[in-house]
Amino acid sequence: MQEISNRSSIRIIEKIIDETPTVRTLVFSDDSLSNVLPGQFAMVWIPGVNELPMSVMVTEEKGKAAFTVRKRGVSSTTMYDLQVGSQIGVRGPYGNSFTIKDGKILLVGGGTGLVPLLRLAKFAKPTNEVIILMGSKTKDEVFFEDMANKILAKNKHQVVACTEDGSYGQKGFVTDVMEKLLRDATFDGIYTCGPELMMYKVVQMANSKNTFVEASLERMMKCGIGMCGSCCMDDVLVCHDGTVFDGEFLAKSQEFGHTHRSKAGILENY
Ligand SMILES: Cc1cc2nc3c(=O)[nH]c(=O)nc-3n(C[C@H](O)[C@H](O)[C@H](O)COP(=O)(O)OP(=O)(O)OC[C@H]3O[C@@H](n4cnc5c(N)ncnc54)[C@H](O)[C@@H]3O)c2cc1C
Ligand code: FES
Repeated sequence: MQEISNRSSIRIIEKIIDETPTVRTLVFSDDSLSNVLPGQFAMVWIPGVNELPMSVMVTEEKGKAAFTVRKRGVSSTTMYDLQVGSQIGVRGPYGNSFTIKDGKILLVGGGTGLVPLLRLAKFAKPTNEVIILMGSKTKDEVFFEDMANKILAKNKHQVVACTEDGSYGQKGFVTDVMEKLLRDATFDGIYTCGPELMMYKVVQMANSKNTFVEASLERMMKCGIGMCGSCCMDDVLVCHDGTVFDGEFLAKSQEFGHTHRSKAGILENY
């Protein structure tokens, strides 16, 4: 049985990369997190503020790990505002990982949901043909395009930026672009991470084509190790039994794409 540690280790931010006006990547040294599997996450303690679940971003340097954070509420904004030299606590890695199929695969990500998908791209076999659809609202919020091309340099691949206002790349929601793509193309596996309603549509489309699909769910998490129940969805704990679930499971879920839990554990509709 895999040993799960709930101890936080202190890490020092060594580099900060501005990805967009609201998204930053914080780089630090961590041998263990630098090698996590695609889909795994860590719990990040922002001293004096909160602890948040975060996917682990790929870096170009050996022994380094990173988090890519979008400023939203109080906790993520405090994390976004950290400086080089600031300390964070990290626990993990936690969770399962994507099952990478042979052949042609499609990755569909929205915003920071691209973080686990880029790690998946890094783990792709040289024989995989990979298409990545990257969703964002406007041109200013497109990020990771160059990084994705670099990671997939040895694969036959295509990186497609999609903006809701059409200011860059393909116009429309990433799911609209996926729908058009599926009219002509078939895939051996489809993988998604991002806003849950986006993932819900991706899973529905993949299931309707009988294509293998997996989604990495971002739910409310407090402990990250299966103790507190705050990430409960149907009869599973997303932190412990996921975060990656397949299309067969998600099609039967009463909660996926319909309801989520508040900080107090109360079910709320999307
Ligand atoms: C597995 C996983 C991976 C994630 N990866 C990323 C990533 O790579 N980059 C990124 O920017 N975001 C990621 N998130 C989302 C992130 O954890 C926060 O939910 C998000 O940053 C909003 O936090 P906030 O406090 O600013 O939001 P607010 O909307 O202000 O939230 C209010 C309060 O609710 C609590 N809270 C909100 N969301 C969560 C949560 N998911 N778990 C625990 N407590 C929460 C906090 O106490 C917070 O102060 C991930 C979430 C999960 C579950
Ligand atoms: S976050 Fe506590 S059980 Fe999943």
